[in-house]
Amino acid sequence: MNDRSPPQGNIAAAPDWVRHRKLRDWVAAMARLTKPERVVWCDGSPAEYDRLCGELVAGGTFLKLNEKLRPGSYLARSNPTDVARMEERTFICANRKDDAGPTNNWIDPGEMRATLGRLFDGCMRGRTLYVVPFSMGPIGSHIAQVGVELSDSAYVVVNMKLMTRMGRAVIEHLGEDGAFVPCMHSVGAPLAAGAKDVPWPCNDKEKWIVHFPETREIWSFGSGYGGNALLGKKCLALRIASVMARDEGWLAEHMLILGLESPAGEKHYVTAAFPSACGKTNFAMLIPPAAFAGWKVTTVGEDIAWIKPGADGRFYAINPEAGLFGVAPGTSEATNPNAMKMLRANVIFTNVAITPEGDVWWEDMTKEPPARLMDWQGKEWVPGCGRVAAHPNARFTVAAAQCPSMDSRWEDPAGVPISAFIFGGRRSSTVPLVVEAPTWEDGVHMGATLGSETTAAITGKVGVVRRDPMAMLAFCGYHMGDYFSHWLKVGKAASRAPKVFRVNWFRKDANGKYIWPGFAENMRVLKWIVDRCGGRAQGVDSVLGVIPRYEDLNWTGLERFDRARYEEIARVDEKAWGAELQSHDELFGKLGARLPPDLEIRRGGMRQKLAV
Ligand code: GTP
Ligand code: SPV
Ligand code: MN
Repeated sequence: MNDRSPPQGNIAAAPDWVRHRKLRDWVAAMARLTKPERVVWCDGSPAEYDRLCGELVAGGTFLKLNEKLRPGSYLARSNPTDVARMEERTFICANRKDDAGPTNNWIDPGEMRATLGRLFDGCMRGRTLYVVPFSMGPIGSHIAQVGVELSDSAYVVVNMKLMTRMGRAVIEHLGEDGAFVPCMHSVGAPLAAGAKDVPWPCNDKEKWIVHFPETREIWSFGSGYGGNALLGKKCLALRIASVMARDEGWLAEHMLILGLESPAGEKHYVTAAFPSACGKTNFAMLIPPAAFAGWKVTTVGEDIAWIKPGADGRFYAINPEAGLFGVAPGTSEATNPNAMKMLRANVIFTNVAITPEGDVWWEDMTKEPPARLMDWQGKEWVPGCGRVAAHPNARFTVAAAQCPSMDSRWEDPAGVPISAFIFGGRRSSTVPLVVEAPTWEDGVHMGATLGSETTAAITGKVGVVRRDPMAMLAFCGYHMGDYFSHWLKVGKAASRAPKVFRVNWFRKDANGKYIWPGFAENMRVLKWIVDRCGGRAQGVDSVLGVIPRYEDLNWTGLERFDRARYEEIARVDEKAWGAELQSHDELFGKLGARLPPDLEIRRGGMRQKLAV
């Protein structure tokens, strides 16, 4: 076979359990385009997972961790050029530029298709094309969506197995003609005949994460990492789903979902939108401090929520995912004991450090770092060597079923009823610990103007405030102004829309230290939020909305945090807010005529109150 000829013989033959003609034809066409060595249809079985993990170990992508210390677990080290989502390489190729809007990168779809045709031609040479059918949401739920990812990365397949409902059951559910979102993925590193593969193949010249919202297609090239490559997550469940949600009257959001149950058995569910690496996972798995005996926090989701209005006027949320792809650094017995339990076995770690005994370590996992490690790039590491041991965006992949705090209804296909929406971000100044929006419209304004200091979860500068509306800046698949209008509309249409709150765990003192202890102590704020929903808690009005006074929160067990300290983080400095309001112009100015009048009105109202 000369090396330019397309795959021959039965390379694209589907197993007999695939009855979906269009799916078979699409896979065959994509195999002709990408020219892999072989095509493997994934059935999602544990045997398949084990076999692929074994192959990844043999090929050098995975290191098997110590079976006694971390059973069933692996470490992958990525190429140092491929460590996070790449927003500047992410494109929304709507037919019209204006429909992608000013916050998304756009390229003419015709031109993009030509580029993709060139990039994908022969891009899987020497590799295996895996067909990965997956369901976002419980298979068959009326809220769920099916995708089929074609990928030349076995690392992607095993991650998708943990992150989604993946395999034969999805194909069987699709039947002969069910709808699915086609998701093309290649690491963009064809293997010449006889060439030896590298542990983390990727393309260090070109990376593309491309969405066609009108035809609901995803094409990703050049990266094997996280949201760039696990296409069910940000690409399908947020960017494409946000377009579906707009068209169908629901919300696809970058939100955790948690339940809070009182000792008397009263239960509320809330969702919270925080930008990447701002604490969704921690908050979703919180264990209340001792003063809250009998209170229980349970987890429904920790990254993505699909929220639909119900017949009773309330919003119902499901977690479309089945696993977690969480930030490792900072996770410890002190900050997130549930996560530490969840990570004891059957985990894929990416870009953490490894101990001489074959266990994992990352910054702040233990108070004292081990005496000796191999860092995330496989280099010798000792404390004080001046480098971090784990990459700041090092992650773990783990099945949600292993999380000890999962809610009994986390797979309820109907979703859970939501009492409150919470917005949060990293702000070292200006934004108070918690504030309740007076109305739905004020709440939408609060979310729309959300700002956060950037983190390592995205490439680029770390620590500068950027507007990240609803934590969806990188994930909204259409014009941000239309997205705000959509939010206003769904809330107005619901008779019992959730109350809206803004929180900020990240205010710093003059020495640059966090003032608020955070983590488990966030329970104090969560309880106030839920009590406000139940009409039981007090607060005072401010320019922004209702803020609890010191005496409105429970301080048992945290008496060292006195009234004066509280006032430092609860204060609304009107001068700072004048400047803050002005800084919103940068985003709002870009949205032009598509900025909904309702938000202009909120802005005018605040300007007046602040006399700016
Ligand atoms: P993505 O998975 O990227 O969408 O992010 P996430 O929001 O789930 O991030 P995660 O919960 O993993 O955030 C991790 C970072 O937030 C770590 O640096 C934590 O130390 C920090 N963090 C979480 N909660 C708190 C808190 O209450 N206070 C402070 N100061 N830091 C927190
Ligand atoms: C995020 O960056 O918000 C994540 C990680 O949740 S990734 O899936 O890589 O996008
Ligand atoms: Mn996220």
